[in-house]
Amino acid sequence: MKRIAVYPGTFDPVTNGHLDLVDRGRRHFDRLIVAILRNEDKEPLFTVGERVDLLREAVSVWDNVEVDSFGGLLVDYAKRVSATMILRGIRVVTDLESEMQMAMMNRRLCGDLETVFMVPNEAYSYVSSRLVREVARLGGDITGLVPPIVAAALTRRFSATRSP
Ligand code: PNS
Repeated sequence: MKRIAVYPGTFDPVTNGHLDLVDRGRRHFDRLIVAILRNEDKEPLFTVGERVDLLREAVSVWDNVEVDSFGGLLVDYAKRVSATMILRGIRVVTDLESEMQMAMMNRRLCGDLETVFMVPNEAYSYVSSRLVREVARLGGDITGLVPPIVAAALTRRFSATRSP
């Protein structure tokens, strides 16, 4: 039986911390599906389509990694794609509280689905999509925190709105 895992998230945008986790996770599963939540309530910077394209480009070097988007409950999506595991990252200990809550809620909704936590490289422990967006919006250097295609997309997005 193939071990299929889903790595769900908002990925607005994908960071090198996310990609570090994808690289760790893909070594332990036959297929890893990076699944972007379709939730326009969050007023994302990038549309789901843009995030899918950026992620597809960023993971294209890995054969067993796919990118998809989903709406509704994560457990229902996981069942649809025959995944038996959910992958999530724990950067710092404060991530654990909300991650445990999600893992336990998902277990209540679907007892067969296991949540697996992995720890990204400590070099990325402070990196979040929110901080990357903020630094990029204010013109700071985000080199090394996101893949070059994401840095270019952020520059394009904010150069249109930044005043001279
Ligand atoms: O990158 P994020 O914003 O931390 O990801 C959160 C995400 C997408 C994993 C979470 O919000 C989610 O799974 N949403 C889908 C809706 C759902 O299943 N909710 C109940 C599970 S706690």
